[in-house]
Amino acid sequence: MYELLFATNNAHKVQEIQPLLPPDIKVLSLKDAGIDVEIEEPYETLEENAVEKASVIHALTGKNCFSEDTGLEVEALNGAPGVRSARYAGEKATHAENIDLLLTNLEGNSHRAARFRTVIALQWNETMHLFEGICPGTIISEKQGEKGFGYDPIFIPDGADKTFGEMSAVEKAQFSHRAKALEKLIYFLTHS
Ligand code: IMP
Repeated sequence: MYELLFATNNAHKVQEIQPLLPPDIKVLSLKDAGIDVEIEEPYETLEENAVEKASVIHALTGKNCFSEDTGLEVEALNGAPGVRSARYAGEKATHAENIDLLLTNLEGNSHRAARFRTVIALQWNETMHLFEGICPGTIISEKQGEKGFGYDPIFIPDGADKTFGEMSAVEKAQFSHRAKALEKLIYFLTHS
């Protein structure tokens, strides 16, 4: 059994990721590890932000760790909200406010294609590795479902007939961007 530090303060992400890992890898969140820092996401790409988070925590702890950054990229909005997904409606915006703004910006637009994209940055023995996961889908016009977080209630992944907000964590993992990126991370960890 070994522990891998996950540079996040987002409990939802830890809950989604832990069950997907092999039983001998235990994920520690920053809170679990007793680290109380708010990590900035200052850059314009998911890749740079993910690397920043893993680097900051590695510099603080000296430990191998990974981070992830995710964005919802909507075709009709030229890829917005993208890297700004968490603060689309403002710096301290709630998930509900972000969803409302997105739906307003898409009102009357029948082109609803979008994708979630996750980038995981793994700081592993002094080298940084990146893993990407993409989930294509559609933005619906009203929220459906209360599960998950973020934009889950308005996103139906391709191949499904309901939103992420209506899925259990296990169902979501069959489609999700985060699960796909994680699969690549696990392959790396179990083959290196
Ligand atoms: P972060 O910067 O990676 O923490 O995520 C940015 C924002 O993207 C979050 O605040 C959520 O609004 C949204 N987000 C990230 N992952 C998901 C997901 O799996 N489902 C729905 N929304 C998500």
